Amino acid sequence: MPLRATHQHMDMTRRPRRLRTDGVRPLVRETELSASDLIAPVFVDATTDERVPIETMPGHERVPVDQAVARVEEVLETGVEAIMVFGIPESKDERGSRAWASDGVVQEAVRHITAETDAYVITDVCLCEYTSHGHCGLLEEGAQDDPVLTVRNDETLDLLGNIAVSHARAGADMVAPSGMIDGMVGAIREALDADGHSEVPIMSYAAKFESAFYGPFRDAADGAPAFGDRRHYQMDPANAREARREVELDVEQGADVLMVKPALPYLDVVAQVREDWDHPVAAYNVSGEYAMLHAAADKGWLQLGDVAYESLLSIKRAGADLVLTYFAEDIADRL
Ligand code: PBG
Repeated sequence: MPLRATHQHMDMTRRPRRLRTDGVRPLVRETELSASDLIAPVFVDATTDERVPIETMPGHERVPVDQAVARVEEVLETGVEAIMVFGIPESKDERGSRAWASDGVVQEAVRHITAETDAYVITDVCLCEYTSHGHCGLLEEGAQDDPVLTVRNDETLDLLGNIAVSHARAGADMVAPSGMIDGMVGAIREALDADGHSEVPIMSYAAKFESAFYGPFRDAADGAPAFGDRRHYQMDPANAREARREVELDVEQGADVLMVKPALPYLDVVAQVREDWDHPVAAYNVSGEYAMLHAAADKGWLQLGDVAYESLLSIKRAGADLVLTYFAEDIADRL
């Protein structure tokens, strides 16, 4: 019998299917997803006094400062205990000065959230939502006309330090610089320590790529660059070896948690950072990763809960300890 004969060329003592029965699957599972791994982004908006749905990110809203606590309580109810706060200021200027104002939108919201809830509060430290030009730092002279000139690196560092300190003073538990400015982690560490916040950890967006997957977020946070793009500070999506050097610099400067962003299109980078360092690794499952699953599910082409779960599981499997995701509440509810 030819069928049997072929079996003789294989070692049929090894049968991986033995470990796939319902009974044994949970015992041999390598990766678990739990609500305690997830961080939910929250948008606080100083330009509105009611909640505004974010069209490109179904289920998410910008909330006014006086709704921030209620919004965070919704997150906590699902079992997710950590949030990342983004702010939309009432006004913008060249320098992004509302980003470090003690009565700024994030500072006010964080004061309320930390006073009234037990959430672990992380803040985004960047200028792009606060500058009139939408870039992540102070602009070079003539940047509008010359695409090679954009953000003045070293002059921006002081501002990032001011922002981080203002967040820590408001009660932030952790700060997360996302601007991809060289030296930002060291500058923020120094500023925090000098102001008495040596206990506040820094989660650095260490390898942040210049990604088209940020599109929906830029609507949500009103932070799209008014001209040009972020190619001169965010990383080229083609480069993984460069990510090694980027991450190493942040480690040297004292980063406590290392983030890769986006997540799904960069799982190789997540795995590489996991391999190279003992630090906790975070991955940001960004707005575009969220929006595309929603859009396909809307068409009835994908089962939303299943693909969301599988996506987050794969991010953990690649080596992330923490996952920032707009799916946080939905998935926690399901777990
Ligand atoms: C701002 C910032 C961005 C995101 C997080 N912080 C946008 C950007 O760099 O353009 C993107 C988040 C997302 O897409 O979910 N520095």
